[in-house]
Amino acid sequence: MVNGTRAARRRPLAAGNWKMHRTRAETVRLLKTLAARLEERRPAAADGPPVAAAGAEVVVCPPFTALGDAARALEGTGIALGAQNLHWEDEGAYTGEISAPMLVECSCRYVIVGHSERRQYFGETNETVRKRLGAAARHGLHPILCVGETWEERRAGRTKQVVRTQLTSALAGFPDGAPAGLCVAYEPVWAIGTGQAARGEDAQEVAALIRQLLAGLFGDDAAAATRILYGGSVKPDNILEFSRQPDIDGALVGGASLDPSSFAEIVERVAR
Ligand code: PGA
Repeated sequence: MVNGTRAARRRPLAAGNWKMHRTRAETVRLLKTLAARLEERRPAAADGPPVAAAGAEVVVCPPFTALGDAARALEGTGIALGAQNLHWEDEGAYTGEISAPMLVECSCRYVIVGHSERRQYFGETNETVRKRLGAAARHGLHPILCVGETWEERRAGRTKQVVRTQLTSALAGFPDGAPAGLCVAYEPVWAIGTGQAARGEDAQEVAALIRQLLAGLFGDDAAAATRILYGGSVKPDNILEFSRQPDIDGALVGGASLDPSSFAEIVERVAR
């Protein structure tokens, strides 16, 4: 049992994965509105940055082209910046790729690794996920490692097996301990962008398995300190079903993170 009272140490996290949406100008506008919406939700008595006051960490992951503008727009807001992918080498002949030092220079603190859309459409494998995680760790980027089963895998009763393989092979490159700031996002592929979210109790079952696997790899303390997110059709009206689960510490949000009011509402509910 590694959740329980130690769960109090984990700060809830709401991360927005914008995918291939928003130009530079649109990014700045969206972030200004988001910061204003979060400011409105600041508890009356709280000092300090509005997001911190609301009790949750907030991360946005715009496209690479908008990261520089996003970093400037986020100054002083308390919202952290993340990227959607990274290459495992620091530089080299890899046309179209972006490296960890490039993301660090753009003020990224987080990076999504192994999203199912990368696995489905761009040939991402457990092996390349492991290498990308290594690059994130070398450069102090906090990885949001995505795992999750397809509908066929769920129907065949293979969900746990798939998640176990994805997680353990991704983390096999870390014999000496978990990458700093590691977050794991459980995202059932069939729930992404479909409007058909998982049931809270099913997501909790997989999140508990993930925490148990983390404990086996890195020990109970590291497992208890790692944030596990749910992702897949998260909306303001279903987020509480996930955030109230003992092993779920927040959400990775796609579509709803593009609407500042919806995302601010999700942040507020994650923070409760
Ligand atoms: P969705 O996407 O919230 O639009 O389902 C989630 C994700 O892909 O991370």
